[in-house]
Amino acid sequence: MASERIRRFSRTERLAHWWLAATTGLMTVTGAFLYFPALAQLLDRPTAKLLHLVAAIALPAGWLLLTLVGDHRALGRTLRDADRLDDDDLKWLSGGPRRLVNRDDEPPQGRLNAGQKLNLMVTLGLMVVLGVTGVLLWLGERDTTYRFAGSVHVHDLATLALTFLVAGHLYLALLHPTTSPALEGMTGGSVDREWARRHHAKWVAAEEASGAAEEPAEPAVLATGSERLPER
Ligand code: HEM
Repeated sequence: MASERIRRFSRTERLAHWWLAATTGLMTVTGAFLYFPALAQLLDRPTAKLLHLVAAIALPAGWLLLTLVGDHRALGRTLRDADRLDDDDLKWLSGGPRRLVNRDDEPPQGRLNAGQKLNLMVTLGLMVVLGVTGVLLWLGERDTTYRFAGSVHVHDLATLALTFLVAGHLYLALLHPTTSPALEGMTGGSVDREWARRHHAKWVAAEEASGAAEEPAEPAVLATGSERLPER
């Protein structure tokens, strides 16, 4: 009999997510110290800038390390899960905001629903914009060839967009009753199977059809054959 829980995210995927959250959190806080002069009394500008740069470098460095020592196939699967919107996703999106309020049934969704696919892709896109403009700002302080008037505005606008996105994401992950059960998937790796069936029907059906539906024991190390086998 299928277990009552279903494995949702591998250890590598969860580490990639929490590394993103930690480094983005540090960049946001230190960025606020750089942006609002009134906060300079609490943390001096050179220290805030140094921490901001450390977090900005740590994010891609940590992801690279995870790709090398973790389960890179799981990370590839996450990206593939988000790389296109099918017809059900388009229906899901058209009824999305209304459904959050009146809790109508949702069109069947894959492992990531259409909103999560967009969240993932827009977040990664904004990270690229922030990275490129951040490098230009850093170079521009050292060499006027790289000094462009627009860099700081684009960096600020991308930060604002990411802040709104993350605020919505936190509301759904921590507070909204139909989506907050997903948090267990990002902490322990598995979620309640019935909840998953209601919100990610196509994913659960595919897992059950392939016989990979049982929740496997958590492996002790990052990248072992035992982690790779059940987490396709
Ligand atoms: C305490 C802070 C956070 C919590 C509790 C949290 C929680 C979660 C949860 C539960 C999921 C999995 C949803 C699912 O089952 O599919 C998730 C996915 C994700 N999170 Fe977070 N998250 C946090 C911070 C962040 C931050 C700061 C970012 C971006 C800068 C972020 C970006 C993402 C993305 C891109 C995904 C995959 C797509 C999605 O599910 O929307 N998260 N997060």
